[in-house]
Amino acid sequence: MGCDDERTDPRTGSGAVASVDLDAVAHNVHVLQQFAGDAAVMAVVKADGYNHGAVEVARAAVAAGAQELGVTTIGEALELRAAGITVPVLAWLHRTDSDFAAAIAQQVGIAVSTAAQLDAVVDAARRVGRTADLSLKIDTGLNRNGVAEADLDDVLDTTAVAVAEGTVRLTGMFSHLACADEPGHPANDAQAERLRDAVRRSTRRGTPPAVVHLSNSAATLTRPDLGFDMVRPGIALYGLSPVPELGTFGLRPVMTLSAQVANIKKVSEGESVSYGYTWTAPADTVVALVALGYADGVVRRLSGRFEVTIGGRRYPSVGRVCMDQFVVDLGGGGSGVAVGDEALLFGPGDRGEAHAQDWADALDTISYEVVTGIRGRVRRRFVAAHSGEATK
Ligand SMILES: Cc1ncc(COP(=O)(O)O)c(C=O)c1O
Repeated sequence: MGCDDERTDPRTGSGAVASVDLDAVAHNVHVLQQFAGDAAVMAVVKADGYNHGAVEVARAAVAAGAQELGVTTIGEALELRAAGITVPVLAWLHRTDSDFAAAIAQQVGIAVSTAAQLDAVVDAARRVGRTADLSLKIDTGLNRNGVAEADLDDVLDTTAVAVAEGTVRLTGMFSHLACADEPGHPANDAQAERLRDAVRRSTRRGTPPAVVHLSNSAATLTRPDLGFDMVRPGIALYGLSPVPELGTFGLRPVMTLSAQVANIKKVSEGESVSYGYTWTAPADTVVALVALGYADGVVRRLSGRFEVTIGGRRYPSVGRVCMDQFVVDLGGGGSGVAVGDEALLFGPGDRGEAHAQDWADALDTISYEVVTGIRGRVRRRFVAAHSGEATK
């Protein structure tokens, strides 16, 4: 996603904007807190806040009541610290040479998934001379990241020793669900039980974790019984439903993608449009060119499978989406659309625009991939009623 440079400047860039509604972030945190009940909310802002801007989303989420932040890498966590964010931040995926000392120095919580990572954290804490905030990520059946059952007793023993000597605090124990978007799937209960078992085993060693957490967005919204001490929603924070077939849960989409109409022209019946001539005008019509393409995340597979809203009306994409532009059919009269008009690609729907979920459906994917896929020349703009508008 674009930042402040000449390619994305309002007057020298393409005019494409990803508007990020920080009030919607606050609304979504309130919704999630209601579903979470007594459990705290950790706002997941990895991958640059699911491509919405990690620092700004984190600030909005914390102001709205989120008590902790979750990211993937230590680098993402340090970016939040550098921006002056002081709430607990947890990083949970590391490389073999991850700089745990830098994390400990900035009081970034470190979730380990292997005995080797735990040893490295203990070693780094001794070198830094500070107690590390340690979480154990338990693999309860996802078979991805997390401490494997075969290693768990050793990891718990080492943790107990490290806690006793003051090198680490066991701030958390958590796991991640494989099938949370199927609320009734038996794996959800099985994973929760394995997490409880790991907590019991740690507690028996005299090291009860301070906070236990399991639920992502889907589980937060559909399985209140799995809330433990804290929930860890990501996609719902951005207003997108993790289980679209069950509805929107009152969430408000945060990102609105728009671009400018760059050209308008008449196309006669029988004339074809864009590369490969995949669409031929069935009658005399007027088409509009929109300045956004697959280099910006409007993937080519969307060609002819999405609609944009201009002046409150929907128009279909026709012909192939190109690297920098695509074409929509305005119909015979051109509908009064003018060069420079704003074309809305997706958003909350208030102005008749499509939803990121519509793109996900068209592409047979999930809305996560739609919003994280917006890139290239798209300029990000933060909008908040209480703090005005700012671009980045
Ligand atoms: C460990 C962990 N927790 C929480 C989340 C948030 O998941 P979601 O966006 O489905 O709420 C993720 C995202 O993949 C994750 O990896």
